Amino acid sequence: MKTVAIWGSTGVIGKKAFKIAMNSGYRIVAIIGNKNHKLLMEQAKLAKPEYVGVADKNAYKMVQDILPANEIEVLTATEFANLAQLDVTCSVMAIAGHASLIPTFSCVGHAQRLAIASKEAIISGGKLLQQFAKEMGTEIIPIDSEHNSILQCLIGENKTSIKELILTASGGAFADLEEKELQNVTLQDALQHPNWTMGIKNTIDSATLFNKALELIEASYLFDCDITKIKAIIHPDSIIHAIVKFIDNSYKFLMSFPDMELPISYALNYPKRTECDLPELNLEQIGTLDFKKPKEWQKRNIDLAYQAVKEKKVIAFNIANEIAVSQFIKGKLQFTEIYKYVLNTLEHAQEEHVNSLEDIQAIIQAIKRGEA
Ligand SMILES: NC(=O)c1ccc[n+]([C@@H]2O[C@H](COP(=O)([O-])OP(=O)(O)OC[C@H]3O[C@@H](n4cnc5c(N)ncnc54)[C@H](OP(=O)(O)O)[C@@H]3O)[C@@H](O)[C@H]2O)c1
Repeated sequence: MKTVAIWGSTGVIGKKAFKIAMNSGYRIVAIIGNKNHKLLMEQAKLAKPEYVGVADKNAYKMVQDILPANEIEVLTATEFANLAQLDVTCSVMAIAGHASLIPTFSCVGHAQRLAIASKEAIISGGKLLQQFAKEMGTEIIPIDSEHNSILQCLIGENKTSIKELILTASGGAFADLEEKELQNVTLQDALQHPNWTMGIKNTIDSATLFNKALELIEASYLFDCDITKIKAIIHPDSIIHAIVKFIDNSYKFLMSFPDMELPISYALNYPKRTECDLPELNLEQIGTLDFKKPKEWQKRNIDLAYQAVKEKKVIAFNIANEIAVSQFIKGKLQFTEIYKYVLNTLEHAQEEHVNSLEDIQAIIQAIKRGEA
């Protein structure tokens, strides 16, 4: 029987993955969360996994006190990441932020397939993660809708036929605003995403367009493609998620209702397509598909991805953005200061040379201490 471990099972992606896994003939052997002990316990009662991993100390105590110790082993997230005997068909990685990094490397050792939404781990893990997965024979299937679409478009194609990868962006909460109108926007404003329901970090990353910048780097690692061949375009309706342009100037793209149901279901069932709870598109109602150039401030933010790759400062970019977003959430930075914070960190960061997971962690710690 197919088995799955779901990391971040209480988040937006994790909850959907949990439901899809239950309906796709998987046995859920492990769920891992952080603070939402109530939902973790509900999921544990439903799926009866062998393990529940909890990162937050208080939540861990709550879960440990309530779940039956003789049936389910409750572990801290670190204990869980080191669980040598775990061997699953698929690990879903849906922890937000760089907290996903070490668990992602752990998944590669424990799973035949890594179905991954956590772009931050793909970016900081970089080539090291891709090499490790190759060595361990773990296939990486992206859940991010753009990358999942590219994967689908590339089936039957030769990598040498790719001319460009084009990722679409809705533009996020401030898609229609000019730079001067961003001065007084609030956290609540930034959380009003027009098309997608996402966790808080991803929603703010969409508003700054750093989400797209991160996704350009993510695509370069996942598809081993030079970042200069990867572009972003604004597509407000989020119906087309990514486009592959080939050397004969033909274009392939995937259209679907904007809902993560599809990429999660595809990643769990790959290479099979299965029915899923995704609304059909009413093409007559849609009528036309709209594409636009990013506004100047959006392009400037997206372009930091090219700078970060060129200067070998990708981890610095990833972590600086995460720090800036968390400062914005706490009210310590204005929305427009997120860009300035990331740019300033990039300017002071050192070129990154990574040979091990320890090297990555050292870079992350240096950025956090402001020493990079
Ligand atoms: N949502 C989307 O539509 C979407 C689309 C594409 C890609 N992604 C990517 O998917 C990832 C998850 O996004 P999301 O929207 O699902 O985020 P989310 O709703 O904020 O969920 C985050 C999950 O991570 C868990 N978590 C946080 N810190 C943890 C830790 N130290 N150890 C273990 N678990 C921890 C949270 O647990 P608690 O809830 O229990 O605290 C929660 O289950 C992100 O990397 C995002 O960029 C999301």
